Amino acid sequence: MKKHFLLFFITSITLIISEGCSYDKESILYPENACDTLSQSFSNDIFPIINNQCVSCHSGTTPSGGFLLNSHSTIKVQVTNGKLIGSIKHISGYSSMPKNSPKLSDCRIEKIQAWINQGTLNN
Ligand code: HEC
Repeated sequence: MKKHFLLFFITSITLIISEGCSYDKESILYPENACDTLSQSFSNDIFPIINNQCVSCHSGTTPSGGFLLNSHSTIKVQVTNGKLIGSIKHISGYSSMPKNSPKLSDCRIEKIQAWINQGTLNN
């Protein structure tokens, strides 16, 4: 009887320990769909998002609201005055963008915010 109890005890402890370590698995710590916000590049990461979602209205001779978003320098103006972040995060007091379309995904907003935090570089 004592032997059985000892065996049960050891098995339980082994199970608890192996379960406790399951989060060491790389796939759990670093899921493939994690949002990459490290060293964002204007030309590779940021401009493609804006080109896709914003440039159709914010370009040409009569851009929507009078705001151009078709180059690094015109985008930077809207970053510096706070309107770009205000509009994409739907902060009250700003017009929500993209107008009449769903909000950008959290990952896209995080990437734009990271690029601004990293210095709004033209890289
Ligand atoms: C369908 C056309 C359209 C699209 C797409 C669009 N905008 Fe706009 N945007 C407008 C209009 C029109 C205004 C003028 C203000 C208003 O009518 O809400 C404006 C205003 C703005 C403003 C000024 C906001 C303020 O509160 O003063 C910013 C910044 C802006 N847009 C950024 C963006 C960004 C960034 C995107 C893409 C994520 C985008 N827009 C997509 C039409 C558009």
